[in-house]
Amino acid sequence: MPAGGRLLLPGLWLLGGLSCLLAAAGGDRRQVTLQYIPGSNSSSASLLHVRAVGRNDTLHYVWSGIGAPTVLLVYTRSESSALHVNWTKLLSASPAGAIWIEPPGSVVYSTAVVFTKVFEYNGTNASGLSKGQEEPFYPSYDLAGFSWQIVNQTALMAKFQGMNTVDPGGTSHNGTISFQVTAYEEGGRDSPLPRLLHTANSSKVEFIMDSVAPRGNKSRFLLEVVTVEEKGGHKRLQSVRSIDDEYTPTIFEMAQLVSKPRNDSVGPSFFQWKTTAYGSRDASRENAIRCRYYPLQTANRTLPGPSIAHAYFGEGLGRSHSIAAINISFSGEDGEVYAEKGYLSWSALLGFGTPPKDAFSPLVMAIVAVALGTPVVLLLAGALVVLFARRKRRSQYEPIN
Ligand SMILES: *[C@@H]1O[C@H](CO)[C@@H](O)[C@H](O)[C@H]1NC(C)=O
Ligand SMILES: *[C@@H]1O[C@H](CO)[C@@H](O)[C@H](O)[C@H]1NC(C)=O
Ligand SMILES: *[C@@H]1O[C@H](CO)[C@@H](O)[C@H](O)[C@H]1NC(C)=O
Ligand SMILES: *[C@@H]1O[C@H](CO)[C@@H](O)[C@H](O)[C@H]1NC(C)=O
Ligand SMILES: *[C@@H]1O[C@H](CO)[C@@H](O)[C@H](O)[C@H]1NC(C)=O
Ligand SMILES: *[C@@H]1O[C@H](CO)[C@@H](O)[C@H](O)[C@H]1NC(C)=O
Ligand SMILES: *[C@@H]1O[C@H](CO)[C@@H](O)[C@H](O)[C@H]1NC(C)=O
Ligand SMILES: *[C@@H]1O[C@H](CO)[C@@H](O)[C@H](O)[C@H]1NC(C)=O
Ligand SMILES: *[C@@H]1O[C@H](CO)[C@@H](O)[C@H](O)[C@H]1NC(C)=O
Ligand SMILES: *[C@@H]1O[C@H](CO)[C@@H](O)[C@H](O)[C@H]1NC(C)=O
Ligand SMILES: *[C@@H]1O[C@H](CO)[C@@H](O)[C@H](O)[C@H]1NC(C)=O
Ligand SMILES: *[C@@H]1O[C@H](CO)[C@@H](O)[C@H](O)[C@H]1NC(C)=O
Repeated sequence: MPAGGRLLLPGLWLLGGLSCLLAAAGGDRRQVTLQYIPGSNSSSASLLHVRAVGRNDTLHYVWSGIGAPTVLLVYTRSESSALHVNWTKLLSASPAGAIWIEPPGSVVYSTAVVFTKVFEYNGTNASGLSKGQEEPFYPSYDLAGFSWQIVNQTALMAKFQGMNTVDPGGTSHNGTISFQVTAYEEGGRDSPLPRLLHTANSSKVEFIMDSVAPRGNKSRFLLEVVTVEEKGGHKRLQSVRSIDDEYTPTIFEMAQLVSKPRNDSVGPSFFQWKTTAYGSRDASRENAIRCRYYPLQTANRTLPGPSIAHAYFGEGLGRSHSIAAINISFSGEDGEVYAEKGYLSWSALLGFGTPPKDAFSPLVMAIVAVALGTPVVLLLAGALVVLFARRKRRSQYEPIN
């Protein structure tokens, strides 16, 4: 390594470290509590409430498997806003208005993400789906028909596990589909792959399929995600590409749905993911499963019910909200990664504020520095040599007298 590189490197590491420290210091902290709220009767009728209190504001994340697995994100300009539930109403046939935040005037923004369906298709002809061709689909799993229970909970994490009640003897009998939720108190980066960067304004959801028996030996899976935005707002699909894959090896793309709220002074909110899933509990580069997404569907969408989004947004849902839906598929290209271990895990981050963006990692900065530094050092060295040579030449013509 040239001397210039050696000098530049520590400087850049220092700079990188400093910027990380600054980011951590400037990043907001929130006081986060994760509370399990049991319903009146069965354990599947329950809510999970993440309350993240900041300076003069509170973010509420409300998760539930009543109907399709859903998360509500509500941002309030109050440190004391509280979640209220009328359980009788929520579990009735007309749940509109059963979930609300007090005081209602403190709410400045709300959105919802609903995980509606899992599709399974014969992926023998992997190119077919991307070309919009008819793929042989197996009957889909309607996640609203599952019975969801919280099977594991820690201070900032909870796992919803779904049992297929519609088809109890069916192929998914011994398998489970789960959503694992993680809340964060401050900004940072996850240690397991895909090592998503998070803020205190966000929480992570991990979609896990475990031992769901595939119905063909080339089965691929596809998850349908529906989002609800208040009237006047809408979601946009964006792709963020980078040449740096240090944190998520071989993955250079991040996809995100970013809201454009009606009131520009609030938000935005985002739902973002790296274009990869993993085929093992121990996620690694070797068991990465390619994740693709399809165009965001916005025209004439309705939200299939029931879900807590209906309970929160009320009767007008559909008419007075903009609903968008997207399909995300998980397809091992060559190896049958899912078939090997019968496991699939995909992570996404849901949050409020501008979506986190990976900066260049210190290693890549160092490489760039060395690559740029070398010519500079060579130039300097060259200049020195020329200068030195000139001096020397001049000295050769020293007067003899
Ligand atoms: C509780 O569950 C039992 C049996 O499942 C049912 O008969 C009863 O009506 C339920 N009560 C409420 C308040 O939902
Ligand atoms: C919080 O609100 C109070 C009263 O409304 C105000 O005085 C204070 O400056 C606010 N703090 C921040 C950090 O916005
Ligand atoms: C809850 O909802 C039920 C049914 O809509 C209603 O009769 C009842 O008054 C509500 N309870 C409260 C405390 O609002
Ligand atoms: C696979 O798809 C291609 C077009 O994408 C088509 O030409 C080909 O016939 C298909 N193969 C099978 C076995 O269906
Ligand atoms: C619950 O989660 C913790 C932390 O992720 C994990 O160590 C433990 O094995 C989990 N327990 C079950 C029953 O899944
Ligand atoms: C479920 O597991 C049991 C024993 O673990 C096995 O006998 C049965 O065949 C499995 N069913 C399916 C549908 O895989
Ligand atoms: C999957 O599709 C291929 C051709 O595209 C076909 O040969 C194969 O039989 C299909 N498998 C199943 C289980 O449907
Ligand atoms: C896929 O299944 C078919 C029919 O069950 C079988 O003939 C074929 O050998 C299987 N292929 C692989 C790669 O397991
Ligand atoms: C946007 O939100 C801010 C803060 O809540 C509020 O002061 C402003 O009136 C809102 N603007 C519109 C057009 O609703
Ligand atoms: C949406 O619905 C309206 C009225 O039902 C219809 O006229 C329009 O063609 C639909 N648009 C699309 C893209 O399906
Ligand atoms: C997702 O794919 C399934 C199967 O092709 C389709 O029925 C559904 O409409 C798609 N949803 C979206 C949002 O594209
Ligand atoms: C989190 O949300 C608060 C409130 O809108 C905002 O001031 C802050 O910048 C956000 N933090 C990040 C890291 O996006």
